[in-house]
Parts: sequence; structure tokens; C-alpha cells
Amino acid sequence: MVKICCIGAGYVGGPTMAVIALKCPDIEVAVVDISVSRINAWNSDQLPIYEPGLDDVVKQRRGKNLFFSTDVERHVMEADIVFVSVNTPTKTQGLGAGKAADLTYWESAARMIADVSKSDKIVVEKSTVPVKTAEAIEKILTHNSKGINFQILSNPEFLAEGTAIEDLFSPDRVLIGGRETPAGQKAIQALKEVYAHWVPEERIICSNLWSAELSKLAANAFLAQRISSVNAISALCEATGANVTEVAHAVGKDTRIGPKFLNASVGFGGSCFQKDILNLVYICECNGLPEVANYWKQVIKINDYQKSRFVNRVVSSMFNTVSGKKVAILGFAFKKDTGDTRETPAIDVCKGLLGDKARLSIYDPQVSEDQIQRDLSMKKFDWDHPIHLQPQSPTAVKQVGVVWDAYEATKGAHGICILTEWDEFKSLDYKKIYDQMQKPAFVFDGRNVVDAEKLRQIGFIVYSIGKPLDEWLKDMPAVA
Ligand code: NAD
Ligand code: UDX
Repeated sequence: MVKICCIGAGYVGGPTMAVIALKCPDIEVAVVDISVSRINAWNSDQLPIYEPGLDDVVKQRRGKNLFFSTDVERHVMEADIVFVSVNTPTKTQGLGAGKAADLTYWESAARMIADVSKSDKIVVEKSTVPVKTAEAIEKILTHNSKGINFQILSNPEFLAEGTAIEDLFSPDRVLIGGRETPAGQKAIQALKEVYAHWVPEERIICSNLWSAELSKLAANAFLAQRISSVNAISALCEATGANVTEVAHAVGKDTRIGPKFLNASVGFGGSCFQKDILNLVYICECNGLPEVANYWKQVIKINDYQKSRFVNRVVSSMFNTVSGKKVAILGFAFKKDTGDTRETPAIDVCKGLLGDKARLSIYDPQVSEDQIQRDLSMKKFDWDHPIHLQPQSPTAVKQVGVVWDAYEATKGAHGICILTEWDEFKSLDYKKIYDQMQKPAFVFDGRNVVDAEKLRQIGFIVYSIGKPLDEWLKDMPAVA
């Protein structure tokens, strides 16, 4: 029986390995992590992450050919294939701070693999890493290997949170990069056989190591660039009376462009897009390509602009001040169907409103009060000026209440900001909500989920990203 071990039981390691275990009953899969609480949660009824369909997959295979353990060394030692799916956040200190990937966790995992291995292994980069990381890992492994043969493969993960199980069941492609040597090709073939249990052969792409590593960064940069492009157009739509949904529809009908990923929003979030673009920017700078670096940097700048534009619109519409006013925040996660708040635009929007002394009442169906308080009390890391951490007002978090119901959040509020596109926000009883709010009552829809016309008929003043403005909003111009 082939044995797989995955180091890192996070948003990628957990779901990916659960699906491999489900689709490959002949393979034993162990997911290991240094976090005892995470592993305990994976072994309980309350999994550490919320992901539609995940519970079912884990329940089917856990204890059969899927195991979660903190015994990292034993499982690595016994494995034929070791996936490394540890976190690779942006460095916050030292050389490359604010842009470069922090490979501390990766390096310590690689050293541990070298230390405990007693047999040949295929080591798979599952984490998103800078181009040429495989070369560094190879050096660590071969310098410490005691004659053991390690083959390094790059097999970046393309799943999106909220649809992870769907994406893993039916991926657009699986990418495997390896050395162009006979041993490298044999390792590629071995990993290909794992995926071939359920992924059609034509969707398994093989390449050299550096192409695979770079493709992951490039794919995320392209995706984020689409959102910044449509968000940039949304600002122009508001200024001209065009409707961004109509523009995106017309643009996306061109088969060369395609209709997906063109939803204007308050900004993209998540643990990947900003981090991976910054990583790309840093690699370009290190390779003497400042023009290319600046091109990609602009994608993040537009994203930051979109978030501050939203805050300015809220404040300027409400008579240029939200001081002391209750503002309801509907949705805090970075997208629907996840409880993940990493880099969620809600953090910047809430901080912006708190900066203007608003009182916030926040509701998200999947994010706990503790998490929201932690996110809002954390110092903002300024990627563009990493040495200048923005000071956090010590009183800010006191102005935040977290409730478990949208009606509770909106009671007595002056305005509502919709920051995550949870389906339930489409079908709320907005008449009931209107009746219990201060007047004039505002809705700022950062995800274009509500029927703005219906809400206007109820009496709301509605702002929808990139849509023609109400007369009220035209009279209260927002300056970003
Ligand atoms: P995560 O923070 O959820 O999980 C990483 C886990 O690794 C943590 O539980 C941590 O305790 C563990 N870990 C760190 N060092 C370890 C060590 N030395 N030994 C054992 N365990 C260790 O991160 P994630 O969201 O799963 O992302 C992992 C990687 O996958 C990142 O490089 C990320 O960029 C990439 N990625 C993420 C997504 C996503 O949607 N989250 C999608 C594609 C790729
Ligand atoms: C992303 C990539 O999609 C995935 O392939 C990669 O493996 C990890 O990074 P993820 O961050 O989980 O996945 O979610 P995604 O669906 O890409 O959304 C990212 C952000 O963009 C969210 O905040 C989302 O709301 C926003 N978004 C997405 C838009 O604002 N408009 C869109 O049209 C699409």
C-alpha cells in the first residue's frame, strides 16, 4: 500500500488529503500538524474549517485510510510521498518584509524530513512558494540525506475556499512539475497515478519545476487582476451612470475574455491573492524587472483603493460623519461559504469606519466573535511601507458588537454595509429591517446582492458598487 503523509492540516492539507483518501482507498493518507488543537478538531465532530461537503468526505474515510495526527516524524518516516502544505505567509520583518514569502515553516518541515527519513521519498510542494524554492529544498534535503534519494515535485493547489470539495473532485487541471531527469519523470508518473484515480488524464498537466511554481503565482495574479480591473471600471461606472453588471456582462460575452470572475465588489480578500502577488512582485524586483513588479503592484493598489472608496462613500453619504452612529455589518468572512477571515475586506472597511468613530454591530453566520475581535485589534500591516505599522486606536474594538442575527445587527442602525455575499442576505425581510432602523436608512451593498430597486421602494437609500447612483448619493460625492 502506498503511504502518503501531508505536513500541514490547514485549509489546503485537510480537504486535499481527505479527497485523495476518498478517491484512492488503496492509499493510506496521514495528515500531520504541529498544532494539537487543529489535529484534535480534525478528529472530532467539529472540524477546524467550515467547507461545504467536507464533513461528509472526512466521515467516510477517517479511521479507515485517512488519519490526523501530531506524530509528524513517524508518519513522515513511513511515507513514500510527503506533501508539504504548510503556511507561507508574507514576511513582516527583515529582508523583503512586506512582499517576500516567509519560508520558515517550509524550511523547518524540509529539515525535519531530512532528519527522520530512512527510505527514498517523493517530496511534493503543495504550498504556494516562490519560483526556485524546489532548488533550495533540494539542497536542504540532499545535504542532510545520508544517501537517501529525494525527488522534489511542485504540485500547486488551485482550490478556492467555499468550493474546495467541488474543486478537488473536478479540478480544471492538476499541475505537476518535476526535474527533467529519468528519476524526476518517474516521480511525476507516481504522483500522476494518484490523481489518475479520479482526474481525467488530459487534465493532468506536467511541466518543469519552475513552470509549475510560477504558474501558481501567475494564475492567482491573473485572477486578482480581473477583479481589480472590474473594480476599477466600477468606479468609472458610478461617475458616468454606466452599470458595472451590464458592462461586465457585455465584456465577458467575448469568448476570449469569458464571463467568470468579473463581479465588482468591495475588494478581494483571502489568504492567497495579496500574498501571492506581493511574492510575485518581490521575485520580479529581485530579477531586475521593476516595470513588471509595478504592473502587478497596481492590482493590489486598486484593491486598497476600492476598500477605501467604499468607506468614503459610507461616511460621505451619512452627512460626512458616522461618529457615534450604529452601522450594521452583514458578513465578515472574505467570501461566502467559509468562516475564513484572512485578508477579508471587512477588516479594512470596519477599521475605516471605526476610524471615523462609528459603532459597529457585526453579523456573520460562520465567524465567531473572538475571531472578529482578534482581526480588528490586530495592527494593520502596511505592505507598501512595512516599517510603519499603523497604530491601532485602543478604544476601537470597544465600539464593536458581534451578534448572531442580521435583524439584531440592524436594529436601531443608521446604515447597513453588506460585505460578504452570503445567500441569506438576499432574502432578508428588508421591510422589517427598515422599520426598526434610524431614518434616513442606508444600505451600502459591497457585493451587489440585494435588489436595490425593491429596497428603494421600501424607503432605503441604496448604494450598490458600480451602479448608477441615487440622487442622494450624487449630492454627497465621496472622494477616495
Ligand atoms: P493554513 O495556515 O490553514 O495551514 C497550514 C498548517 O501548517 C497549519 O495548521 C500549521 O500549524 C501547519 N504547520 C506549519 N509548520 C508546520 C510544521 N513544520 N510541521 C507541521 N505542521 C506545520 O494554511 P493553508 O491555507 O492551508 O495554506 C497552505 C499553503 O497552501 C500556503 O502556501 C497557501 O498559499 C497555499 N494555498 C492556499 C489556498 C487556500 O485557499 N487557503 C489555496 C491554494 C494554495
Ligand atoms: C483563490 C483562487 O481562486 C484559487 O484558485 C487559489 O487556489 C486560492 O486563491 P480563494 O481566495 O479561496 O481562491 O477564493 P476566490 O473565489 O478566488 O475569491 C477571492 C476573493 O475575490 C474573495 O474575496 C471574493 O469575494 C473576491 N471575488 C471573486 C470578487 O470580488 N469578484 C469576483 O468576481 C470573484
